[in-house]
Amino acid sequence: MSRTVITFGTFDVFHVGHLRVIERAAALGDRLVVGVSADALNMRKKGREPVFSQAERLAIVAALKPVDEVFTEESLELKRDYIRQYDADVLVMGDDWQGRFDEFRDVCEVVYLTRTPAISTTALIEKISAGS
Ligand code: CTP
Repeated sequence: MSRTVITFGTFDVFHVGHLRVIERAAALGDRLVVGVSADALNMRKKGREPVFSQAERLAIVAALKPVDEVFTEESLELKRDYIRQYDADVLVMGDDWQGRFDEFRDVCEVVYLTRTPAISTTALIEKISAGS
């Protein structure tokens, strides 16, 4: 039986930490679905406009080899609906969210993956802004 994996993120200023989490998520099943945060959701979640628009971020993630399907995540409150809608067997999140999604263990497996060290969109933006 085919196993569907779902994961979520902003994936702004796409970097190798994003690639690694997507590759590792894909390796946990046969089909990978990625929810990419809407611009408005990112604004609420991180308090800043993303550098790349949701259409651009979606296009980048959709073009990755391990990704089978993408959609726009409109609200953090809709995770359970998205899991059902895409018939996901596994929810993968980075361990910055450790424990925060355990409530979904009644509908799917929940796996937290270790973040790639020393890289983040926030750090990249700061580094580029500082010109260093
Ligand atoms: N991620 C990761 N390793 C990193 C950075 C991100 O595994 N070094 C994972 C996150 O855990 C998440 C996904 O990539 O599952 C999308 O994360 P996102 O929040 O979009 O990226 P960040 O670089 O963490 O962004 P920010 O600095 O804005 O919080």
